[in-house]
Amino acid sequence: MKRFATSVSFALVLGLATAAGAAGIVSGAETTPASAPPVQLAQLTPDDPAAVASAIELATPLFRRNCSSCHGNAGEGGIGPRLAGSTKMESQTLIINQVLFGSEYMPPFAEMLSDEEVAAIATFVRNSWGNAYPLVTVEAVAELRGPAR
Ligand code: HEC
Repeated sequence: MKRFATSVSFALVLGLATAAGAAGIVSGAETTPASAPPVQLAQLTPDDPAAVASAIELATPLFRRNCSSCHGNAGEGGIGPRLAGSTKMESQTLIINQVLFGSEYMPPFAEMLSDEEVAAIATFVRNSWGNAYPLVTVEAVAELRGPAR
């Protein structure tokens, strides 16, 4: 009887140790993807075919909220100039600076939008309504924003 009990508890300990080991391996493997943010524009490169689509997805609600009142939902213009079919969209520097620092009749967005959001919006306006230019990287925005923030 005593021997039986010992072997049962030994089996139990072994079983628990195995279960814990397996659980450790499983949770270790699952931690990385589960905690990663869904769209990480900073990790995308202009060569990535999905990068522009990801940027557009991120930027669409941001453009509606921050820009379309002056530039129109379809970039047709209004208080602000037309962005649809504009050759100005060729210069990412112009777009980034305009969005970060504004100008006489446009407010600056440097305090309101992150580098990633500005990169996404710049990519969005460059790739909507007939415009087609490469992805604007987060690094390009960070560089123009400068260390002062
Ligand atoms: C309050 C109105 C207003 C808002 C809001 C606004 N803009 Fe503008 N935007 C302007 C005006 C006006 C200009 C023309 C420059 C000027 O007169 O200051 C301009 C110029 C631009 C230009 C340069 C285009 C050119 O032809 O020179 C870009 C790009 C641009 N805006 C993008 C944006 C984006 C992206 C947003 C949202 C993050 C935005 N704007 C929000 C009014 C606005």
